[in-house]
Amino acid sequence: MKYDVTVIGSGPGGYVAAIRCAQLGLRTAIIERYPVLGGTCLNVGCIPSKALLDSSEHYHNAHSTFKTHGIDIKDLKVNLPQMISRKNDVVLDNNKGVEFLMKKNKIDVFHGHGSFVNKNRISVAGTGGSNEEIETERVIIATGSKPIVPASFNYDKKRVITSTEALNIEKVPGSMIVIGGGVIGLELGSVYARLGTEVTVVEYLDRIIATMDADCSRELMKSMKNLGVKFHLRHAVTEVTPTKSKVKVVAKSRDDESKTLSWDVDYCLVAIGRRPYTDKLGLENIGITPDEKGRIPVDSHLQTSVPGIYAIGDVIQGAMLAHKAEEEGVFVAEVMSGQKPHINYNLIPGVVYTWPEVASVGYTEEQLKEMGIPYKPGKFPFRALGRARASMDLDGMVKVLAHKETDEILGVHIVGARAADMIAEAVALMEFRASAEDAARMSHAHPTYTEAFKEASLAATANRPLHL
Ligand code: FAD
Ligand code: NAI
Repeated sequence: MKYDVTVIGSGPGGYVAAIRCAQLGLRTAIIERYPVLGGTCLNVGCIPSKALLDSSEHYHNAHSTFKTHGIDIKDLKVNLPQMISRKNDVVLDNNKGVEFLMKKNKIDVFHGHGSFVNKNRISVAGTGGSNEEIETERVIIATGSKPIVPASFNYDKKRVITSTEALNIEKVPGSMIVIGGGVIGLELGSVYARLGTEVTVVEYLDRIIATMDADCSRELMKSMKNLGVKFHLRHAVTEVTPTKSKVKVVAKSRDDESKTLSWDVDYCLVAIGRRPYTDKLGLENIGITPDEKGRIPVDSHLQTSVPGIYAIGDVIQGAMLAHKAEEEGVFVAEVMSGQKPHINYNLIPGVVYTWPEVASVGYTEEQLKEMGIPYKPGKFPFRALGRARASMDLDGMVKVLAHKETDEILGVHIVGARAADMIAEAVALMEFRASAEDAARMSHAHPTYTEAFKEASLAATANRPLHL
């Protein structure tokens, strides 16, 4: 049988692309090298990390705020194996969900490593040595990404770990160095800091979450310091050496190379970014050469240099985010079917699931300055919200950046409780090119955290917040 489309990789990019292809009447196959579907996001990324973030946050609250709420607990302790086991159940449920969706949409699933024989033939090598070939009209490459670990960091998966292993530690570590103050380092660093681990983050740049607005970096670092996390900015880790039961980590100051810091810790979590994954994909057989960062080059239709071969998600340029991969999956299926879809990459939100959460959409203040776009900032702190006082979630702020002349909202940056959910309002308004005054005049239920967005919009549009 010849398929209209074959998708390689079943992460959020691949499986969503397959569903949309099937919805559009295309005979669709999907190939996944692992026995389970869902990719990085579902198995070792978004979902398991959020499961552990939720569990550890419950523990942290029980430990640090329940007493003030009037709840006394005796003998509170962490049962990490149970926490991990619940996380595994959450993942399993989601695996089943994706399997169901494949069946429901009559998508044929092939398990094994896919590689191009030529542009219309994909070989699937199963783990048991089996091999079959799929004939296909078109292909969507959605093979995702893997953690970057320099060989000099002696990645042994025991003491020197990446996010994948950090999701399965069975005993709360005494100490952990996190290399990289990016999203993974701060999310998984938070999990262990909440459980009692002494967490130290070493970051090369002069701020954490450096691609987000600088106010977000500042606010989050303040909150994480209150959680007990230590930070060393402007330091580069130069040595990671596992010993019998510890790991030695050495970092050099970027300001004075003669100054070094060194630690002997239980774990070193390497979280310095991810690389596109195209290993043994046979790209050379169809004449595709990845760029200098290993990404598959695509045009504005996400088509590679080979007609009929598309690529989406972490394996191409852009933010490595599940929802970006999903949008691209839908986009490619619709392009193939002759539709004219559009993705507004500027309005793909970014979220960090620490507590407080960080969420951002549109331009940062630094970008607006650099581009010379005149803007008006409006800020509102969570601590001035009745809702935040009620829940004791006082950290954070909302910042709205509006165009100085037109008042159009150009960027929204939130640090605070439920920021991840709050950002959807900003995305919707910005998709419709709303002004800060539009947002300020909309009724926001009281008491909610979303009132901070209304107030920050009032501050941006006319410098007249009501509760500040
Ligand atoms: P992947 O999800 O990486 O899927 C690719 C799939 O392709 C994999 O299953 C792989 O096995 C398969 N594959 C690769 N090569 C082949 C081959 N040759 N043959 C067959 N199969 C193959 N993003 C968010 O938006 N929100 C989050 O909260 C979030 N949290 C994260 C937490 C962690 C710890 C990590 C590591 C990542 C997180 N991400 C998050 C990022 C998110 O996981 C990725 O952006 C997303 O998974 C990318 O989707 P994808 O479909 O491009 O690739
Ligand atoms: P990242 O790119 O977010 O952060 C890596 C950090 O490590 C950077 O700040 C960098 O300056 C620093 N760094 C690099 N080399 C270093 C060195 N030798 N010493 C000290 N610091 C060093 O990468 P991360 O956190 O690994 O995440 C990878 C991807 O996964 C991200 O692109 C992100 O989009 C995605 N992700 C998304 C999540 C979300 O949406 N909530 C959660 C987790 C991951």
